Amino acid sequence: MNDGNGDRFTIHRGPAPNPTPRPMIDAIFHAHSGLRYMVLLAAVVALVVQALGVFGRKPYDRASRTSMAVFSGLLDVQVLLGIVMVVLGCFYGALMGHLMMMVLAAGAQHACSVYARKQADPRRAHTVGLVGVVLALLLIVGGIGAIGRTPVSSSGRPTCTASR
Ligand code: HEM
Repeated sequence: MNDGNGDRFTIHRGPAPNPTPRPMIDAIFHAHSGLRYMVLLAAVVALVVQALGVFGRKPYDRASRTSMAVFSGLLDVQVLLGIVMVVLGCFYGALMGHLMMMVLAAGAQHACSVYARKQADPRRAHTVGLVGVVLALLLIVGGIGAIGRTPVSSSGRPTCTASR
């Protein structure tokens, strides 16, 4: 439409634009995207420590417990950042698979971490820990795949703000 002075402007009809400031979602997206490498690294460390415990018949010691706790903690922070993005309005249908698999990953990791600590036999404790880490890793890789990314790829921008 022309405003009479030769300038063109647009009249917006329909629903009001999303009031969520885009920079906030973008910032959390980049934190979420970057933190995944820390989560994956912590998972690999926990996997190696638990596997060494099973096959090397080591005691379920501080390293065994700490490696599980660090992976669980980073996973929790990652889940929290993801939930904040969704609460801020970053949501679309295909994200449901991502969300559900990640919640299941965190659940499996926490449950196995707690159950492992209760085992009297160190080999059994490490086996439970190993099962938890492997299960969580498989769910995480599946959850990343659910939104069309790989564990080491990035879209650069969140899908929900890319078209605004
Ligand atoms: C309840 C838990 C989670 C929620 C609600 C959530 C939410 C989100 C959202 C809204 C996006 C943006 C999607 C898009 O742009 O298409 C995203 C992207 C992503 N999420 Fe999550 N997330 C969760 C857990 C996790 C976890 C545990 C990981 C990995 C350890 C993870 C890794 C990623 C990756 C790699 C991306 C793509 C980043 C990029 O393209 O640079 N998310 N997530």
